[in-house]
Amino acid sequence: MIIGILKETQKGEKRVSISPRITKQLIDKGFELIVEKDAGTYSSYKNSDYREAGARVEKRGVVFKDSELLIKINPFDEEDLKLVDKGQVLISQLFHKSNPQLINSIAEKGASCFSMDAIPRISRAQDMDVLSSQSNLAGYKAVILGAYEMTKILPLMMTAAGTIKPARVLIYGVGVAGLQAIATARRLGAMVKATDIRIETKEQVESLGAKFIMVEGAVGESENGYAKEASEDYVQRQKEAVNKSLFKADLVITTAGIPGRKSPILITEEQVLQMKNGAVIIDLAAAQGGNCEISKLNKTVMRNGVKVIGTTIAPESVSTNASELYAKNMYNFIMHLTEDTKFKWDLEEQITNETLIVHNGIIRN
Ligand code: NAI
Repeated sequence: MIIGILKETQKGEKRVSISPRITKQLIDKGFELIVEKDAGTYSSYKNSDYREAGARVEKRGVVFKDSELLIKINPFDEEDLKLVDKGQVLISQLFHKSNPQLINSIAEKGASCFSMDAIPRISRAQDMDVLSSQSNLAGYKAVILGAYEMTKILPLMMTAAGTIKPARVLIYGVGVAGLQAIATARRLGAMVKATDIRIETKEQVESLGAKFIMVEGAVGESENGYAKEASEDYVQRQKEAVNKSLFKADLVITTAGIPGRKSPILITEEQVLQMKNGAVIIDLAAAQGGNCEISKLNKTVMRNGVKVIGTTIAPESVSTNASELYAKNMYNFIMHLTEDTKFKWDLEEQITNETLIVHNGIIRN
């Protein structure tokens, strides 16, 4: 099978879906690889690195024309689809539920596509889970960004000129990004508290040396492991339980999401007005509407001396690591889907079934 690695075209994107290391691993398994020229430039991978790993480096048109399987990180777009042929297989994140037009266009082409963001959250799929590998980095980077934007340091520091108290960090949402944010803030010496609607996160928070803020009426997760939408009642109780810590916090990181829905508002403008002068909020949910009422995606909003930064901390800010992890997820996924470098098309199997969105022009999911 010939696999084509495309250069990402989305504005600001710096990652690439396959690194030179994974290129070599795929070639060792018997695949042929064609990499679009300069695909790895912004992840610090040179064309010569891919050549040394055994791939061909070609212009965009050649990659589309010669490949049976085409790989990207961001969803294929209409420009890409002009170059896609019947029978080709596409793999990228597709966000298919909010992107029906794209799915129709792929189907009209008679192509097949798998969506990396549709990988089920089950144990045996963990090594293919790009949402986790990328969120993990986002959680880390959120703390680093916060530390940079704060006018204080995170750890306790005893100096001849006096003692600096550790900063207080508050994390909303203890999924993959939230857990990594807790671990990173702890490693940097901050005092960390966290809250989540899923009660089972209490133990995870405490195992990282942080304090869990329990909200009365916190619920379990839904069948797929994700949070359910909070009731109005819960939102009110959450405010009561968290406000004391929120108003004392130096750095707040919000990560709360409900798949397929707008992210819940967890910090209102009224609450921001009661926060400490100089506090920083990093709203990682900004792309889905934000967890803070006043955050704006890719903007810094100042209110009452509080800096509110709306970001996805798109993992492209750590593109070398993000590409390497995405590539490893992709390698595991390709291995899962193929046998002797041919697709198995095992539609009875859960991971294949849930990720195969269009099969030979027929929309399945
Ligand atoms: P996410 O990005 O969808 O949400 C982040 C966190 O926000 C979640 O912990 C959620 O419970 C919380 N949240 C939602 N609404 C909230 C509210 N109103 N107040 C407070 N917190 C709220 O979550 P992510 O990181 O995608 O993980 C979701 C679940 O999937 C977790 O249970 C995680 O452990 C599990 N998971 C399982 C994997 C596997 O088994 N393969 C891989 C990755 C995650």
